Amino acid sequence: MSLLEVTKVTKKFSGLVAVNEFSMTVEAGQIVGVIGPNGAGKTTLFNCIAGAFPPTSGSIIFNGQEVAGKKPYEICQFGITRTFQVVKPFASKSVLYNTMVGAFAQTQHLHEAEHIAIEVLQFLGLDHKKDIVSKSLTLPERKRLELARALATKPKLLLLDEVMAGLRPVEVTEMLPIIRKINETGVTIVIVEHIMQAIMNLSEKIYVVNFGKKIAEGDPDTVVADEEVIKAYLGDEYVVTQH
Ligand SMILES: Nc1ncnc2c1ncn2[C@@H]1O[C@H](COP(=O)(O)OP(=O)(O)OP(=O)(O)O)[C@@H](O)[C@H]1O
Ligand SMILES: [Mg+2]
Repeated sequence: MSLLEVTKVTKKFSGLVAVNEFSMTVEAGQIVGVIGPNGAGKTTLFNCIAGAFPPTSGSIIFNGQEVAGKKPYEICQFGITRTFQVVKPFASKSVLYNTMVGAFAQTQHLHEAEHIAIEVLQFLGLDHKKDIVSKSLTLPERKRLELARALATKPKLLLLDEVMAGLRPVEVTEMLPIIRKINETGVTIVIVEHIMQAIMNLSEKIYVVNFGKKIAEGDPDTVVADEEVIKAYLGDEYVVTQH
């Protein structure tokens, strides 16, 4: 049994079909990439999986259980956590406070939440910033805080929505081993990202979506050589720079 089985998920917003009969399977322990042009439906897919809103139709089975249409807190309890494309920490609260917000998905006890949060911050190398207010963090630090908040919920499946967007190349390079390290602790990851270097480096398998529809899936090398993917998303420049 796969950890996540998304079958023919469709999400319509009045006339617009943002996700169109999209299917994917994710095995426990994998890092799976989802790529596609702006507006292709990637974030909407994450929203359906994480319960921000129900899919219009289709099934989302996590760990053998149907989760489509369940509330975000229920889905989080099952073990799915997502990060947000636009990072929104409580700006005037500390790094520790923001991380504890995630930990409260696991415990109602303050000390336990603090313990979980500190462990996660240590893991991500952010513990020395724990008392700093979030708004004074740099962008790479804010991205790591977003990871910390997500990890503090102790997910089995982590949905990463552009956690590297806006980072400089050197900062992206620093982020890659962090994501690998998270995966090595047993967290399965689905990653949406426009930075192809990151997607190629991390993903075992890639799904490509365009206008809400899956246009390709497979191992990274096969997918980036796919003509439809090049036409819809990567562009000829990508092919040229690969040689
Ligand atoms: N809550 C919403 N209400 C109405 N339309 C929406 C909503 N969320 C997304 N859409 C529309 O659905 C389509 C898919 O958007 P989505 O944000 O999922 O794309 P995306 O693949 O994440 O794009 P990007 O790479 O720019 O983040 C877009 O046309 C978008 O305008
Ligand atoms: Mg998006």
